[in-house]
Amino acid sequence: MSPSHLPRSVLVVGSGGREHALVRALLASPARRRVCCAPGNAGIARDVPCFPVAADDVAGLVELARREAIEFVVVGPEVPLALGLADRLIAAGIPVYGPKADGARLEASKIFTKQILLKHRIPTAPAAFFDAVEPALAYLRGRSMPIVVKADGLAAGKGVIVAQTLAEAEAAVRDMLAGGRFGAAGRQILIEDCLVGEETSLLVVVSGRQYAILPTSQDHKRIGDGDTGPNTGGMGTYSPAEVVTPELLARIDAEIVGPSVRAIASEGINYCGTLFIGIMLTAEGPQVIEYNARFGDPETQVVLPRIADDVLALLWAATRGELPGTPLRIRPEHAMCVVIAARGYPEAFAKGDPLTLPTDLPAGVSILHAGTAVDAAGRLVTNGGRVLGVTALAPTLREAADLAYAACERVQCASKYYRRDIGARQLQRR
Ligand code: AMP
Ligand code: GLY
Repeated sequence: MSPSHLPRSVLVVGSGGREHALVRALLASPARRRVCCAPGNAGIARDVPCFPVAADDVAGLVELARREAIEFVVVGPEVPLALGLADRLIAAGIPVYGPKADGARLEASKIFTKQILLKHRIPTAPAAFFDAVEPALAYLRGRSMPIVVKADGLAAGKGVIVAQTLAEAEAAVRDMLAGGRFGAAGRQILIEDCLVGEETSLLVVVSGRQYAILPTSQDHKRIGDGDTGPNTGGMGTYSPAEVVTPELLARIDAEIVGPSVRAIASEGINYCGTLFIGIMLTAEGPQVIEYNARFGDPETQVVLPRIADDVLALLWAATRGELPGTPLRIRPEHAMCVVIAARGYPEAFAKGDPLTLPTDLPAGVSILHAGTAVDAAGRLVTNGGRVLGVTALAPTLREAADLAYAACERVQCASKYYRRDIGARQLQRR
């Protein structure tokens, strides 16, 4: 696509590491367009202008886009999408990358998604849906353990309980349906069979019935080394995920990606945005765990730097319904992102802890900001559970890991915590 057809100004919505990675990728476009962000964070504000409009303030964001003469909006998080930000921008004549509320429902309702998966025979775990305690308990007694209990709605990644015992599963059912845990999100639940295998995240740029598969990646969801402790938003990623061989990717494309895109379109959803497919690689083949209606965080931090094509042109083409039929050009290097979190995350953690970052980073290393802010005294401080994503791109995963971890050590912050084993599985396999 010739640069003259690209939008002159782009607004990224969100404030995490994913959005910092998006801002960097858009700034790297040879078209050199104006990029800005709302609300952003301390690190994003070092790169581009940031506007203090919250990511869930739909009316405020539409007003901001109008006022700033924004020609293209790229939405990071799921909440504004589920609230209809894309619908409202389109109504205002502003092109947006990110699905409308009907598409965002694929993330906002796990029951809706499971019904589509089952109806279109896309490989996924068998499941049943409940809104009352007794039938759910009766169903549980007929299944084998472990089993998975999920709140239907958005619960910030916490609404999934993988129960090892019947007692644990029963407690989860009662908590959600009777105890009001997860509030409205847990008023309906799914109970689904537990899938066993390695998990992988596949990000797909979707434009109606067209799509482009982004480089493979793998996340580390648990807080502790060796995949121990509670689930988090994601503690680190690497790309490529070599467990997804070219042959396996072709199978996933044929059995999952293509059928998913066609199923969504045939449900009457004109989906434009990233479809994030969580996949379990089971002994019986790849199966869908979930869809998300957005880029992954921290998958985006390792996936975007490996795209050799212009990311702005790619997202714009998807929005215009002009995705090229040819596969993306992908860089051969390996990328790793190590998340630095505030000690205590994903439970209680402190904010406002001073943070000092190395300034002389070696080539290929970047420190992306997630939960950071500048305090009243002008100091850079922690401002969230996941604070930074230390990202490295290098010829091998080993080198990327060494670069990322060397930079992690040089980050000064009393409350910093990070996993020491990001990528270990793939590093050991080699
Ligand atoms: P979700 O919010 O659906 O992504 O679920 C969060 C995490 O729970 C996933 O990343 C998986 O690790 C796990 N999970 C969800 N569904 C299943 C399942 N059917 N079998 C095994 N693990 C699951
Ligand atoms: N890293 C997992 C997610 O973005 O949902």
